[in-house]
Amino acid sequence: MATLLVLGGGSAIGAAVAERFARRGWTVILAGRGKERMTALARALSGRTGCTAFGTPLDVLDTDSHAAFWKSLPCRPEAVLCAVGLLSDQQAARRDAAQADRLLRTNFNGPAALLELAANEFEQRGSGLIIGISSVAGDRGRGSNYLYGSAKAGFTALLSGLRARLWRSGVRVLTVKPGLVDTPMIAHRTLPRWLLATPAKVADDIMKAVDRGGDILYTPHWWRAVMWGVRILPECWFCRINV
Ligand SMILES: NC(=O)c1ccc[n+]([C@@H]2O[C@H](COP(=O)([O-])OP(=O)(O)OC[C@H]3O[C@@H](n4cnc5c(N)ncnc54)[C@H](OP(=O)(O)O)[C@@H]3O)[C@@H](O)[C@H]2O)c1
Repeated sequence: MATLLVLGGGSAIGAAVAERFARRGWTVILAGRGKERMTALARALSGRTGCTAFGTPLDVLDTDSHAAFWKSLPCRPEAVLCAVGLLSDQQAARRDAAQADRLLRTNFNGPAALLELAANEFEQRGSGLIIGISSVAGDRGRGSNYLYGSAKAGFTALLSGLRARLWRSGVRVLTVKPGLVDTPMIAHRTLPRWLLATPAKVADDIMKAVDRGGDILYTPHWWRAVMWGVRILPECWFCRINV
């Protein structure tokens, strides 16, 4: 049976996607911070869906441990979902280089290093699926959010490059750009409910994109039009909008 590896196994969106793969009979490996937590999440997933699930510890910032992590997986994955992300207070990060560094490395360097390991193995095997959760925030740098946004822009570019490198080898890469999703990541923000998608909605959209062989998914779909509008605004106008 095929195996899905979830990087960021504690993520709300990651959990919703993992559940859908599990219900299709996939084995799931949840990788994230806290060995016991990952094991408990895997046990609960297995209890709900009847799938085989494993939990394994992973800190994406500890890049020295990545090769050993990859080698030690309980079974070889056919699909990898990267759901790791950090949205910290940009005001604080602007004043504190260590916080900014953590934000950039969590959203870009760590995931990039891990997906490279997946890409190399999938390329050699001649099959595989990489799903990277980027963000609409990566489509254009906003004054209030450009540190997170620039890391996600880098991640989007990385996924695009991996797609271009790997398609001849039969490896697919899906870039997911959610808008605002009701998860712990944005729980500190007060936002109108209608703007928020649920993790379940995002996961359903991801499964549809997986099934139809999509490459770039905006979810919910209307963010594609919104971001088109945001991208074409001239810089001199964009600067005047306080977003
Ligand atoms: N929610 C939104 O509005 C939104 C919008 C656009 C894109 N996204 C993206 O969607 C993805 C999933 O996020 P989410 O909304 O599901 O939020 P979430 O529940 O907060 O998930 C983020 C995950 O990243 C993990 N993580 C952070 N630093 C890590 C590290 N050093 N090592 C390993 N794991 C680490 C967290 O682990 P812990 O559980 O240990 O903290 C958490 O499980 C992220 O890439 C996020 O950027 C979210």
